[in-house]
Amino acid sequence: MTVHFIGAGPGAPDLITLRGRDLIARSPVCLFAGSLVPRALLEHCPKGARIIDTAPMSLDEISAELERAHRSGEDVARLHSGDLSIWSALGEQIRRLDRLGIPYTITPGVPAFAAAAAALGCELTLPEVGQSLVLTRTPGRASAMPEHETLDAFARTQATLAIHLSIHAIDQAVADLTPHYGADCPAAIVFRASWPEQRVIRGTLETIAKKLKEAPMERTALILVGRVLEPQDFRESALYDADYQRRFRRQET
Ligand SMILES: C[S@@+](CC[C@H](N)C(=O)[O-])C[C@H]1O[C@@H](n2cnc3c(N)ncnc32)[C@H](O)[C@@H]1O
Repeated sequence: MTVHFIGAGPGAPDLITLRGRDLIARSPVCLFAGSLVPRALLEHCPKGARIIDTAPMSLDEISAELERAHRSGEDVARLHSGDLSIWSALGEQIRRLDRLGIPYTITPGVPAFAAAAAALGCELTLPEVGQSLVLTRTPGRASAMPEHETLDAFARTQATLAIHLSIHAIDQAVADLTPHYGADCPAAIVFRASWPEQRVIRGTLETIAKKLKEAPMERTALILVGRVLEPQDFRESALYDADYQRRFRRQET
């Protein structure tokens, strides 16, 4: 028996990996984080599968389900939105499984920031404009931030930011970022990237909060900030440069 943690992707049901889909199809138990995992993915479950929405459950209740499946020798497909490496509660679940000696696997998924970049039609790293991407959030009711991980600290680097779980804090984010990036720095909000109801707001640090108030969005939205979103100009990457190809690629052909 194995618990298969599977990144379910950002929302569109066809943005799951083939491995993830196949694991769902052969697991007689499926636990899914109901608030963001699309219901259409449950159609891959085998007939008669035990399917449980964990949104209203405590960690103790989820662990009890995993232990029950372990005792019955049934594999579990455990679905979380996006990828499992960020804000998925994977850490606390595998810590418990490790203590209980229950085996598990981890199958990555398409994270929301990648789906948001696709919605914006842009690359988040461009030569000489931006070469670093910070995936972060602002403090929530239940989750304080580590002392040094402030927007102000990240903003000092001028890296591109993908700010999660923070749409309610847009005013504070703009206030923290503007002194470092400038009021004219491009900013965007992507709501439910890859879902049918996907919406995009583009602006600058000066305009983005006002635009959001004119067309409010809740919760499942990402704030992106950085010059890569609307580059004035950038040089082409060296990777496809003809000289680079001649010097470093000859032995590959
Ligand atoms: C609990 S985190 C989950 C992140 C997820 N594990 C990932 O890999 O993207 C939820 C936050 O991710 C962002 N998010 C998740 N799905 C999204 C989507 N389809 N479009 C925009 N933002 C999304 C929002 O900021 C939301 O508040």
